[in-house]
Amino acid sequence: MLVVKEIKELQERIAREKQEGRTIGFVPTMGALHQGHLSLIEKAGQQTDFVVTSIFVNPTQFNDKKDLTNYPRTLDKDLELLQETACQLVFAPEVKTIYPQEDKRQFNFGKLEQVLEGQFRPGHFNGVAQVVSKLFDMTKPDQAFFGQKDFQQLVIIKALVKQLNLPIEIVACPTMREEDGLAMSSRNQRLTDEQRQNAPHIYQTLKEARNKARSMSVNEVKQWVIETIDQNEFLQTEYFEITDDENLDTIESWDSPLNKVGSLAVHCGEVRLIDNIVFE
Ligand code: PAF
Repeated sequence: MLVVKEIKELQERIAREKQEGRTIGFVPTMGALHQGHLSLIEKAGQQTDFVVTSIFVNPTQFNDKKDLTNYPRTLDKDLELLQETACQLVFAPEVKTIYPQEDKRQFNFGKLEQVLEGQFRPGHFNGVAQVVSKLFDMTKPDQAFFGQKDFQQLVIIKALVKQLNLPIEIVACPTMREEDGLAMSSRNQRLTDEQRQNAPHIYQTLKEARNKARSMSVNEVKQWVIETIDQNEFLQTEYFEITDDENLDTIESWDSPLNKVGSLAVHCGEVRLIDNIVFE
């Protein structure tokens, strides 16, 4: 497994692989790797010939500077984990390599960036689009792999690829969960033992909400989810909304023919957790 920090080296190696007829699979990450990332890499290994993983904590997507400072950085451990996977090249650049000058580009995803996470994390998706568009340009992958845990990010990346006419297939991969149901996230590392014990209450409530949907209206389920999560003293719901999975429009009735996804953000102490569930 090759580890490179410079764009030129990355591009030369990828060009060589392409010349030899190999397809490129790309898994962008911010490091602090866990089983969720490894499942993306495994899928990339099944579907493409040469798997590139990037590890880069992207400063432009952090609306909260404290979150950027506290974001776990565990490069040595990440590289060790990657040795056991299908990953053939790791791109781990410095901030000045990706941003030799300030990126002033403003993307416009309309409503897609204004709802859900967008209401609470101003500029977040613009930062994601800045870095992902640069990484796509550098790696020119055939397929790129994203987790469904970051449901809105996935919708926005699909829109980005359309807007920029990029010939990249975006592959959505299922959320990986701990045994107790907590969605895997690099942020889980920052939970205290007590918070970690209580955090699974989020997914338990989401699963139960699917049963409630048989007897409650959409609005009743939304209210029930927020009240039920907030009954746990360690958890405070920031939002819970049920939308379709393309335009992120609010679902008004269970009769809607659209795919219905319930998404939330919950504060657990200082840590902000997100999760979602599909309603059948
Ligand atoms: O999902 C993430 O880890 C990040 O948002 C991404 C896609 C690597 C961009 O920095």
